[in-house]
Amino acid sequence: MYLYGASGHAKVIIDILKALNIKVDALFDDDEAINELLSIPVKHQWCGESPIIVSIGNNIARKQIVDKLLNCDFATVRHPSAVISPNVRMGKGTVVMQGAIIQSGATVGSHCILNTGASIDHECIIEDFAHISPQATLCGNVHVGEGAWIGAASVVIPGVKIGKWSIVGAGSVVVHDVPDGAVAYGNPCRIRYRQDCSYSQAGISIVTPNQIAVYGAGGLGREVAGGIAKINQSGKERWEFVGFYDDNKDAGTDVSHYGKVLGGMEELNAVDKPLALAIAIGDPNVRHQIFQRITNPNIYFPNIIAPSFRILDPETFKIGRGNIIQEGCSATCDVTVGDFNVLNGSNVLGHDVVVGDFNVLMPAVRLSGAVEVGCCNLFGVDSVVLQKVKVGSSVTLGAGSVLMTKPKDGHTYIGVPAKRFDFE
Ligand SMILES: CC(C)(COP(=O)(O)OP(=O)(O)OC[C@H]1O[C@@H](n2cnc3c(N)ncnc32)[C@H](O)[C@@H]1OP(=O)(O)O)[C@@H](O)C(=O)NCCC(=O)NCCS
Repeated sequence: MYLYGASGHAKVIIDILKALNIKVDALFDDDEAINELLSIPVKHQWCGESPIIVSIGNNIARKQIVDKLLNCDFATVRHPSAVISPNVRMGKGTVVMQGAIIQSGATVGSHCILNTGASIDHECIIEDFAHISPQATLCGNVHVGEGAWIGAASVVIPGVKIGKWSIVGAGSVVVHDVPDGAVAYGNPCRIRYRQDCSYSQAGISIVTPNQIAVYGAGGLGREVAGGIAKINQSGKERWEFVGFYDDNKDAGTDVSHYGKVLGGMEELNAVDKPLALAIAIGDPNVRHQIFQRITNPNIYFPNIIAPSFRILDPETFKIGRGNIIQEGCSATCDVTVGDFNVLNGSNVLGHDVVVGDFNVLMPAVRLSGAVEVGCCNLFGVDSVVLQKVKVGSSVTLGAGSVLMTKPKDGHTYIGVPAKRFDFE
């Protein structure tokens, strides 16, 4: 028996073969620096040796190697501790690891990995090159598309379909279908972003244009639509802009030359395929409410970041999802930006700044070093927050103001230095 791929994954397969009293004669690996694994020689030139198992955990890489190994006999192995119904069909090159259970009526394709303790219930269909990670549970009648990867300890409820070459993150609970090429995780599992899988010999190529819409057909909505066009021009991403959603404008209304209003919240929540959405609402609290009203699992929220955004130290920069960062913004080092913030242009985030969620920074706002910002705050045009000041939630800072001390949640501060201003 031969293995192709001298990795940790191969070590587990070697154990399985030992348990079956099958000798591994040699492994193959493209990395010339690896010459043995568990005292078995690793060679670098495959000359037709078989039977062979491609022992590579990454699904696309496994397929690439399988496509290279022409006319060879692929072995299928099952650890003796796996419980497999006699009424299961399984393709070549598939590996069933310790403690996996496969129930009656399931069909498993070729070159799949059914990892340690995975549970595949009755009548599941698992297509070629899929990987069901340790302790993942597929309930009855789940369909896992070609090359899909179900993360460790995730649960897929009955009848759900997981698209080709998609990824379900570890520990997810999948209650809706996941489309082709998506990366989804969480409980409930939601689509987080789409991948470009372009390997093509036998045609993975899920390079679908990512469709995107903007919620809010006002001034900020047009700015964001323009920003998306700019991102496309830069070649950094490829969005297909489909239009606007807005509850205060009739469907079909033109929004400048960018596109039309497609409907309101009801129509958005009825969209039946994956759609990226940017929430272009400048009031932090309304922004938050809009997000809470979006219940459609097909909607996901990428960051829309102008190509001109400058980060002094990208390794220390962290960012969540749903943020809009417009032209001319910059961040220095150790900056963290949470979810659904708007940096409306020419904003500066100093070292160690932490921006929470749903904050709106109007143009030219500057947050000095180590400023911490909580949730749903509005910073007016050209305002400044001095170093180390902590801003809690729902604070409004007037245009041109300079905040020097910690403000009280829910209040407005104006002036230099900024003072609390209570409206009558
Ligand atoms: C889903 C997955 C592929 C995402 O990878 P990624 O795109 O590189 O994501 P990142 O690591 O950059 O994380 C991005 C954010 O998503 C969160 N996240 C990532 N995976 C998550 C998961 N499975 N569940 C919940 N949240 C997750 C991270 O905490 C992070 O949030 P933060 O920015 O607030 O800190 C990966 O995390 C995962 O779960 N892989 C499966 C691992 C596995 O099962 N291996 C078995 C091998 S046998």
